[in-house]
Amino acid sequence: MQRIIAIEGIDGSGKSTVSRALATYLIKKGHKVVLTHEPYNEGLIELLELTRWKDPVALSLLFSADRALHLSEVLSKEADFYVFDRYYCSTVAYQGALGLDLAWLFSISSKFPRPWLTVILDLSVDTALKRLKNDTLAFSRKYESLRKVREVYLKIKDECNGVVVNAERPLEDVIADVISLVESRLSTS
Ligand code: TYD
Repeated sequence: MQRIIAIEGIDGSGKSTVSRALATYLIKKGHKVVLTHEPYNEGLIELLELTRWKDPVALSLLFSADRALHLSEVLSKEADFYVFDRYYCSTVAYQGALGLDLAWLFSISSKFPRPWLTVILDLSVDTALKRLKNDTLAFSRKYESLRKVREVYLKIKDECNGVVVNAERPLEDVIADVISLVESRLSTS
């Protein structure tokens, strides 16, 4: 069974550290794990920075195209778990926060396999911004946009097969919670 575990959350929520720690834990338990992240194609963010394209529909479709290419590559590798640092709920949350209809965003994601589990790392925007080192956007703009993204994540939790984890705490505690979530889902599936 191909189990996708998506780690989601606003910038600065600790997704990358949590994804790595979860993958390491599962590997130590003897599972075959693919650890991966989105956006997948390195050129995508560069392209967006270069062009400064801001149209939310275009962004949603570009992130989704990147995802389709990603899935066809990554799911061809055999594994028990695919740990994704961001997946389609990032598109729903980030591009939904730009005002797009959430149902449309889910519909363009409907060809993608539903995650076995989505972990939504939830924390205040204040804490997230303190953790971010490369803050390229103006503070107030970033604050307001991340506030909206956080709100959408909490709204779409169930459609993402998601569980919200309080990420306001030290990362060791967050990682321990994520591991026990995965363990309890394994024991019931
Ligand atoms: P990412 O590389 O995950 O950055 P970070 O590790 O700092 O969170 O993602 C880069 C940015 O792209 C991030 O601000 C979120 C955004 N993004 C979207 O807006 N939509 C998407 O579908 C994805 C995958 C990312």
